[in-house]
Amino acid sequence: MSEGIYPRHLWFNGQIVPWEAATLHATSTIWSGISAVFEGIRAYWNPISGEMHVFRLHEHLTRLKQSMRLNRMEMPHEAIDLMEGLPELIRRNGIQEDTYIRIIAFPSERRMASRADEEVMNLLADTAPLASRLADDRAAHLMVSTFTKISDAIMSPLVKSIANYRNSERAMQEARLAGYDGTILLNRLGEVAEGAWSNVFMVRNGVLITPDLGSDLLAGVTRDTMIHLARTELGIPVEERRISRTELYLADEVFLCGTALEMQAVASIDRFQIGDGTLGPVARKLRSLYSAAVRGENDDYAHWRSTAPTMQAAY
Ligand SMILES: Cc1ncc(COP(=O)(O)O)c(C=O)c1O
Repeated sequence: MSEGIYPRHLWFNGQIVPWEAATLHATSTIWSGISAVFEGIRAYWNPISGEMHVFRLHEHLTRLKQSMRLNRMEMPHEAIDLMEGLPELIRRNGIQEDTYIRIIAFPSERRMASRADEEVMNLLADTAPLASRLADDRAAHLMVSTFTKISDAIMSPLVKSIANYRNSERAMQEARLAGYDGTILLNRLGEVAEGAWSNVFMVRNGVLITPDLGSDLLAGVTRDTMIHLARTELGIPVEERRISRTELYLADEVFLCGTALEMQAVASIDRFQIGDGTLGPVARKLRSLYSAAVRGENDDYAHWRSTAPTMQAAY
């Protein structure tokens, strides 16, 4: 039963249904994972206004549709309206805490190499508590992975596909077993791509630099947010370009960012200390701007937030 562990309601194929009611037959999931795509979205609780804010929902849904299109998945039009569905799901679940929302699009009854029109598509969204760690100053020790980042020639990193995550998972397992907190993957050219489930930024000589979208990475919503905040709020130059591994070692600051991870300072890479090994000044300012934007404390970024209507639980 869902009590206490799972949300009371899920969003399933266009409807909000009790957790218990969203079922599939076990055999219908065989092969479904190989083409499944997903999104991870955060919603933040603002205790002052008593509101839940879903951050950059439109951009996440746009990427979901793009991932589906690139994986040749067809969804009935009426099933895709999550712009209203997700805030409503938050309301129905009575959520008043920082939350992670996962959306997964997957075919059931899938056969190997089946055609899109032969598949039964499903779209499922669930919610789970996930406290923000934006106030946590701890910096991570990373290694550069011995695994190469998948490339556009194999499986596009621009598609947020479940299958791509085996690459990230292997790199992360390797790093943890070796005593590191996380990892950075290089692309097939030996240049910096991204973290296991995050994008990477460095600061050198006052310039914020991140690998360009051709470097084999996911076009992160948080990455886009950081670029925007750096340019418009901090007025510092931002470069999207190729980055070598050695440049990372020489950086004044390095940080990772992503929806679930939010922002993580990097203390060292391959045991080379970055800056003074703590959250750097540019990252600290960006983190504070990010925190205000996501939690609804900066009206300039209201267009990035979808606010759940009222927070009374409707059981
Ligand atoms: C491989 C990878 N890169 C980057 C990101 C960051 O993307 P976003 O900021 O849209 O969450 C993620 C997030 O899950 C990821 O899994």
